Amino acid sequence: MATPINSLLSLLFISFLSSSNADLNVADFGAKGDSKTDDSLSFLGAWAAACTSPKPTVIIIPCKRYFLSSVVFQGPCNNSNVTIHLHGVLVAPDYKKMDSSDSWLMFYDVAGVSVIGGYLDSRGSSLWACKLAGQNCPDGATALTIYGSKDVLIQSLISINAKLYHIVVHTCTNVTLQGVRIYAPENSPNTDGVHVQNSINVGVLNTIIKTGDDCISVGPGTKNLQILRVACGPGHGISIGSLGKEVEEDGVENVTVKIAVFTGTQNGLRIKSWGRPSNGFVRGVIFKQVLMNNVENPIVIDQNYCPGSSGCPNQNSGIKISHVTYTDVKGTSASQVAMKFDCSATSPCNWIGLRDIKLTYQDQPAESFCRNIRGIALGVVTPPSCL
Ligand SMILES: *[C@@H]1O[C@H](CO)[C@@H](O)[C@H](O)[C@H]1NC(C)=O
Ligand SMILES: *[C@@H]1O[C@H](CO)[C@@H](O)[C@H](O)[C@H]1NC(C)=O
Ligand SMILES: *[C@@H]1O[C@H](CO)[C@@H](O)[C@H](O)[C@H]1NC(C)=O
Ligand SMILES: *[C@@H]1O[C@H](CO)[C@@H](O)[C@H](O)[C@H]1NC(C)=O
Repeated sequence: MATPINSLLSLLFISFLSSSNADLNVADFGAKGDSKTDDSLSFLGAWAAACTSPKPTVIIIPCKRYFLSSVVFQGPCNNSNVTIHLHGVLVAPDYKKMDSSDSWLMFYDVAGVSVIGGYLDSRGSSLWACKLAGQNCPDGATALTIYGSKDVLIQSLISINAKLYHIVVHTCTNVTLQGVRIYAPENSPNTDGVHVQNSINVGVLNTIIKTGDDCISVGPGTKNLQILRVACGPGHGISIGSLGKEVEEDGVENVTVKIAVFTGTQNGLRIKSWGRPSNGFVRGVIFKQVLMNNVENPIVIDQNYCPGSSGCPNQNSGIKISHVTYTDVKGTSASQVAMKFDCSATSPCNWIGLRDIKLTYQDQPAESFCRNIRGIALGVVTPPSCL
């Protein structure tokens, strides 16, 4: 016969069991969170438990600083609903102590994974110093890579000081980055904010990116990418490309950038391809409601990219750029040529549209530049369109 206190205890025990049944805590897998002990194996233990469970699972990462070496959270899993509540900070090793992985944290071949909250500190500064000193340094590791996966949500994550890119989405379907914030210094090399490649149905929403390279870069094989409400700068802007490095390359199709603010960036809206043969393409791009604050090259298509002048001089880009529209793009250019369309002689840009553009350059008239382009301008367009 149970006494009242015993039934109270068994009630507590049952509710503990039922909650611990659903939620996994990295602490229960041995994670210390003292910012020194390598907690990678504890994280992988929690991941294995979540991934093998046939039911939806939640992993809790309490608010501490966890030191992690490079980790791959690998699928496929026995359920397609793992939610990771990241309350703490994940800290990376210095580059000299990292293995040669090209990613620090990676989700590989997963479905239905959500990462909510958290803070990634990649500690990139010593690697940048090495690169800036022109020494012989490794490329470094991307902070977070989502590869070969589907139905992934990254929400309210903060990533600082990546060694290389901050977030890469590669070979994925249905990935949403929402409310993510990305910070690295203006002079940090190769610290792209978000890179999307070979992926379908990706959203980058409500994002703030201040970094040393492209805020968002879009690689070959990207289809249906939605970039909505993004603030970029410092950084190199939003760039489709570089494309056309390879002769055989997948195209980029259906990219929308809507409601974006660029502040003090090197570029605003850029499409860039190597000046060499390729069967790739860019089509179906909408740039809409964009504000430029003192941006070096607010609108630019450059099909003559040829770094180091090797492998491309005197050749033309094979990338076919078509159906690209710029609507309601306003603000200030930091250089006189506010719109530059330098397209390929052999694959001219086609079906390019401008509507309601107002870009100014200090107190002088801004200019536009056109080469090998066909299109149409509607509404008020300043600088005057050269289409
Ligand atoms: C899925 O569950 C089965 C048992 O139901 C188990 O044998 C298998 O290892 C699990 N798969 C993974 C990837 O964990
Ligand atoms: C995933 O599981 C959580 C509970 O852990 C639930 O609230 C949510 O609706 C599930 N999502 C999907 C897409 O099944
Ligand atoms: C996309 O992924 C989300 C989870 O992030 C899921 O809730 C949604 O149903 C998926 N959409 C499709 C069309 O599968
Ligand atoms: C691109 O968008 C158009 C119009 O929304 C749609 O018809 C087409 O199927 C999309 N292309 C791809 C590759 O999804």
